[in-house]
Amino acid sequence: MGDPAKAADTPVPDTHWMTDPAWDGITHTRLFGCRAELLHDNLLDLTHEAFLHTSTIGDEAVYENGVLNGITPATETTTWYFYSFRRNFAVGDAALNELLHTSLGEVLDEDLVTLELQERMIASRPESVRDVLIAQDAGVSKARRVLQRMLDAEATGAGASA
Ligand SMILES: [Fe+2]
Repeated sequence: MGDPAKAADTPVPDTHWMTDPAWDGITHTRLFGCRAELLHDNLLDLTHEAFLHTSTIGDEAVYENGVLNGITPATETTTWYFYSFRRNFAVGDAALNELLHTSLGEVLDEDLVTLELQERMIASRPESVRDVLIAQDAGVSKARRVLQRMLDAEATGAGASA
């Protein structure tokens, strides 16, 4: 897929924990009915956990383990989300895997419902209405600018740089 000559030579992030037998975990795959940008925004702004995921992860610190967030645009308004949560403790604990699979699946479903509502709102609003960014959106805003610079550079053949 794509032109191999234009592929970046950036090293692939270390995800040894995805296949290392000393680690265990769960995976999920969801097709989100929203643009990939909204999934990026969602992962960059975890302040939504305190009100969207109150019945699931809330504000628990679950990010000290290996987490893979594979976000792949399918169309302009749909996105494949490949998710994996890995841990290097309680390896082989099937009951814990089942609990994690169920609870983290609920988290993804909460995000899916919310992001699809956002997508519908974006599609239904006049083009002149822009996003209103607040202080908590600083990370999201910066990431959007970096991504846009990379897309612009790719489009002009100038090469990508963050
Ligand atoms: Fe979320």
